[in-house]
Amino acid sequence: MSDENDTTSSRGHWGSRWGFILAAAGSAVGLGNIWKFPYITGENGGGLFVLIYLACIAFVGLPIMLAEIMIGRSAQKQPVGAFRKLQGKDTPWTVVGWFGIVAGFIILSYYIVVAGWSMDFALKSVLNFTEPVEKVATIEAKSFRSTSSDDQLRSYLAEIRAKHQSRQEIESIHRSVKPSVWEMHSIWQEVLKKQPTRSFSEDPQLAEAVPLAQSKIAEKARVEKRSLADALTHYQQMDIQEVSDEAEAAKRREIIAAKVGAIFGATASDGWTSSFWATLFMAITIIIVAGGVSRGIERACKILMPLLIALILVMVVYGVFQPGFEEAVRFVFEPDASKLRPSGVLEALGHAFFTLSLGMGCMLTYGSYQKTKMGLGKTTLMIALFDTVIALLACMMIFPIIFSYGQEPSAGPGLVFISMPLAFAEMGAGGLLLAIIFFVLLVFAALTSAVSLLEVVCSYLIDEQGWPRKKAAVTVGLACLAFGLPSAFAMDSGFLLESWESGYSKNFFDTMDHLASNWLLPLGGLLIAIYAGWVMPARLRAAEVEDMSPLLVSGWLLLIRFVAPALVLVVLAQKIGILDINELLG
Ligand code: PHE
Repeated sequence: MSDENDTTSSRGHWGSRWGFILAAAGSAVGLGNIWKFPYITGENGGGLFVLIYLACIAFVGLPIMLAEIMIGRSAQKQPVGAFRKLQGKDTPWTVVGWFGIVAGFIILSYYIVVAGWSMDFALKSVLNFTEPVEKVATIEAKSFRSTSSDDQLRSYLAEIRAKHQSRQEIESIHRSVKPSVWEMHSIWQEVLKKQPTRSFSEDPQLAEAVPLAQSKIAEKARVEKRSLADALTHYQQMDIQEVSDEAEAAKRREIIAAKVGAIFGATASDGWTSSFWATLFMAITIIIVAGGVSRGIERACKILMPLLIALILVMVVYGVFQPGFEEAVRFVFEPDASKLRPSGVLEALGHAFFTLSLGMGCMLTYGSYQKTKMGLGKTTLMIALFDTVIALLACMMIFPIIFSYGQEPSAGPGLVFISMPLAFAEMGAGGLLLAIIFFVLLVFAALTSAVSLLEVVCSYLIDEQGWPRKKAAVTVGLACLAFGLPSAFAMDSGFLLESWESGYSKNFFDTMDHLASNWLLPLGGLLIAIYAGWVMPARLRAAEVEDMSPLLVSGWLLLIRFVAPALVLVVLAQKIGILDINELLG
């Protein structure tokens, strides 16, 4: 099938049973998973935020997704038309549809900017941007090693250690081998010179290192059948090598991190570059939407999604072998209430809507392109689970690198664009290839989501206003692009990099994201939940869920009628100050 161009009689439908699932998953999985979730997790201190987010997915996102698909499939219309069809022409419920159109328009306007950055990074990868960085870093780090005197080396290592100290790692670092090698080295050097400058007894760390060094050297002498003095000299030389190797590696990482960070800064703070890519990305989105729903989207999803997941898995495995892996696991999964920002709960809720493409009629619209009935519950669960797993994997791909390079997890919207190139740069030529594939796939993941955003707005004009599909796609796309330009320029002139550091920023880009994800989507979702739970004719509802078990249906009804609306209301009311949650809990 593919009759999208016929705007009057029959509407477009998915080509196959899997078409809907793929397209819905394609809409859900996007920049929200790979760009946004890791960075807001970073800003909100990890663990607890992730937990709240998962609860929001399970108790709010899942039931509302089922409701949206159900309404769309039942009405066979886009949001505005769906409520008109189900509730009569003058129903106030069309406001839900209007909400969705506004939210979709706003989200798409800054979504294309981030997608544009991905395109920019894809091109930069093709143009070998990681290789020079890696090469330059290696050369600079080598010269750092050869020019640095012992004293320089020592103060540099002290600096590294101070950095670790600030991240409360001092304990484990001191116990691990390499820093104590340095301690032993400096001790033995002093011993050799016969002019100790420090009193060992005053420094417990050194006191600990001396017997350790002694026993190691004695062991070495025994094994290699050398004299103790000989072993000592050899050991000392080996230590110098090892210590300076470590210093070089650390310096190299530092240089790479600085350079890669600067590359992202240059892209994001250059409004013209951002606009150029946003325009190109929007053009592609318009072409796909103008061409009709099923052809492009379905096919792209089928091939690219599995590829994206495979690559994410490769990077997660890479992360497992990085020194920062353990810290990353702790960060993402260990709840720490002190690190959650005051707006954290609202952000988690808003993001649950954003990442599942809910609250704005997107799933409703995609549901309306579905003809055949198929396990609604199973489908919903599958899409949500898939989306959540990818978001968590994205965290496990990004944070090990962030911690291995001593970067801040709260780096803000640049997180994925800073962390991934770091890993790729470290991998050399093979990393270059992975970088290209990664950013290209990220662009495609963004594309399947952007298409769904544009589709919602266009489907209104096509279905309700009788516009030809092409005209709708081009007009809405260009208007949205114009509205997105302030977002593309929001970070110009280095202003943003400063405000990112504080964790809060109030530019146009962030304001639009905050408004749409944290307010419009939850409000839209609340109305959809109320409609599906209380207003939708029971006969129609029953027809949609007839293949679900009665127990599941009652569970869903409980969630959609009470739990989901209550949770959304509490979070929103708390945010506007109507409700003080602490008071409520006594
Ligand atoms: N879910 C998409 C993402 O995670 C974004 C999106 C939101 C798409 C709302 C459609 C509707 O990237």
